[in-house]
Amino acid sequence: MRYRLSDRNAPYAAAVVESSWEELVAAAAALAAGPGRRLLGITGAPGSGKTVLAEAIVRAVGARARLVGMDGFHLPNAELARLGRLERKGAPDTFDAAGYVSLLQRLRPAVDLVCAPRFDRAAEEPVADAVSVPPDVRLVVTEGNYLLLDDGPWAEVAALLDARWYVEVPEPLRLERLVARHVDYGRSPPAARERAFGSDLRNARLVERTRARADRIVTVPSFDVDART
Ligand SMILES: Nc1ncnc2c1ncn2[C@@H]1O[C@H](COP(=O)(O)OP(=O)(O)OP(=O)(O)O)[C@@H](O)[C@H]1O
Ligand SMILES: [Mg+2]
Repeated sequence: MRYRLSDRNAPYAAAVVESSWEELVAAAAALAAGPGRRLLGITGAPGSGKTVLAEAIVRAVGARARLVGMDGFHLPNAELARLGRLERKGAPDTFDAAGYVSLLQRLRPAVDLVCAPRFDRAAEEPVADAVSVPPDVRLVVTEGNYLLLDDGPWAEVAALLDARWYVEVPEPLRLERLVARHVDYGRSPPAARERAFGSDLRNARLVERTRARADRIVTVPSFDVDART
């Protein structure tokens, strides 16, 4: 499988590199090889494949790596209902962005055991302390929509990352995958399309505007995701 890193849409500053899957894993492994801890951030629009890529990288690097997703900082549904934001779940102000920033700050020094939340996609709720990151972890991979947003607490995330990758796929494929995933998690096909072409699309446009702040644009070709597990 080939992962192509390109500079489409110049004049953006992202690296002009074409890279195989092995080279991407090697780049992540190089980050994990130093004496200190490194943070790799993977961003991109909803459904672009961030979680799949981040999980594959962490699996490939092994025990020295952990995945700490931004999605663990979704506000609980009860709190979103109280704020009147449940319909906009997934928008930047439906996360505990300051909590995410402070977790990244705690993760950087690699001194204490740090516990991080995880998002349970079936329940659509965060689960506290689901991921533990002991001090000997050398690479923390974090992924999510708003890592490079230049707004509110989100604006502090980019500087906490040692590398910033932006995952990009052709728009029809992204939408197709997103609709399929919503159906997999129990939505009817019309409801899945409404979500993918409604609130997800508004969020996607926001994320796309952060592309210029990435170090690398990662174009991920399709593969059989199930066969990789
Ligand atoms: N390289 C790939 N080849 C084939 N299918 C893929 C690939 N990457 C992701 N997918 C599929 O696309 C869907 C979306 O992928 P993923 O969940 O990784 O996206 P995401 O960017 O994390 O989305 P979100 O922002 O909503 O969390 C998944 O159902 C996954 O199986
Ligand atoms: Mg994801």
